[in-house]
Amino acid sequence: MPSVISSLFQDASIDRRVYTDPALFDLEQKQIFAKVWHYVGHESQLAAPGQYISLDVMNQPVLIIQGQDGINRAFFNRCPHRGAQLTRQSCGQAEQLVCSYHAWTFDTCGALRGIPMSSGYEATPVQDHAEQWGLTAVPRLENYAGFLFVNLDRQAPALEQWLGVNAGNLLNMVERSPSGLIEPFGGIFRMTQRNNWKIYLENLHDGAHALPTHQSSVLPARQTSTLTQDPWSKLQADIVSANGQSPRKMAALSVNCFEQGHSEMFGFRESRPDTAQQQEYEAQLRQFHGAEKAEDVLRTDRHIALFYPNLSVTPNWMQLRVITPISVNQTRVDTHSFRLVGASDAVNRRIISFANAVNSPTSLIRADDLENFERIESGLRVRERRWISAHRELLKEEQPVGPSHAMSERYVRNQFHAWRNYMEQAE
Ligand code: FES
Ligand SMILES: [Fe+2]
Repeated sequence: MPSVISSLFQDASIDRRVYTDPALFDLEQKQIFAKVWHYVGHESQLAAPGQYISLDVMNQPVLIIQGQDGINRAFFNRCPHRGAQLTRQSCGQAEQLVCSYHAWTFDTCGALRGIPMSSGYEATPVQDHAEQWGLTAVPRLENYAGFLFVNLDRQAPALEQWLGVNAGNLLNMVERSPSGLIEPFGGIFRMTQRNNWKIYLENLHDGAHALPTHQSSVLPARQTSTLTQDPWSKLQADIVSANGQSPRKMAALSVNCFEQGHSEMFGFRESRPDTAQQQEYEAQLRQFHGAEKAEDVLRTDRHIALFYPNLSVTPNWMQLRVITPISVNQTRVDTHSFRLVGASDAVNRRIISFANAVNSPTSLIRADDLENFERIESGLRVRERRWISAHRELLKEEQPVGPSHAMSERYVRNQFHAWRNYMEQAE
């Protein structure tokens, strides 16, 4: 298989089958997704014993719960008896976990605490080794700056190593809070897209598509921005119309490509508006951090930090997007927004306005992009033409890692170097 894998990505050409072949999709699940870290939630959601989050990670039901001892643990959400899922709520609080089927009961540290109607188990492994009938731990749970991640691979490198230098972008989100605290708010936008997961990632720093693709949303947004009297409509219109930047401006927009397929792109929208509320917030931040550090935090204007293959972080608008491949041509994208605890409602409302304008199912920007993703998915069915191209700036930026800009396809090549490394790794 390794020789087959290396033939699928050459210099800057990518074989169409990496987007269409179900067998390669299965191999990606095993070789890539089973070995990387997955964002599962924020520690503020586990603020007291018994609070939990539950979700699927790679189709495995997982439960992250704070124990009565104050420690957060991750378990598979599955009863050891006959296998029922213990909770179907996405979050909640429980004094103990009671299985709905035969009421086996577990404490919040995962230990088996009781079996009703326990006669009949005499001299069986269930009675003799009750300590083995607790919940099964997920191999790894780690916390970076309050962001919780799990890994299904016991041997995986530490979370911080996987995050690499890009970790600073997660830290920047926390540092933007005038209290040092952030918490999820506004719910999650969940969208299932009809495209391979890589097609989505390859779009995230693509400055070259902005003008042609987003013309249909940029033009009406510009009009709305001039005509509307409502400041929130104007903000959303300005967020949408910022996509209409010239190729010259996009070429001046920095992108950095890092190891492991990660990358970051700088901001191209006004994230420090000239308003009384913003000034009040910036004063709060100076009080919390000191003037120099506060300025550093605000100046770190990153629009997207991409953690290959499954997380996109937008620090300057307090947002995370989790990318979950469902099948070779279906991908789920969950968008999480975070509140700056201690900042005014007006400042936090900007965060939700951004999510509405860019990531909601009704976003005009999303509609533009989804149209392209589906066209790519459809076009790649053509068998007569094998390769797709990611050649832009290849001569100037031959190595995968290094500084780049939003008109270059270096970050796409960098993703495929990472893809090949994962896919060729021995099992
Ligand atoms: S399946 Fe859980 S108690 Fe029987
Ligand atoms: Fe786009």
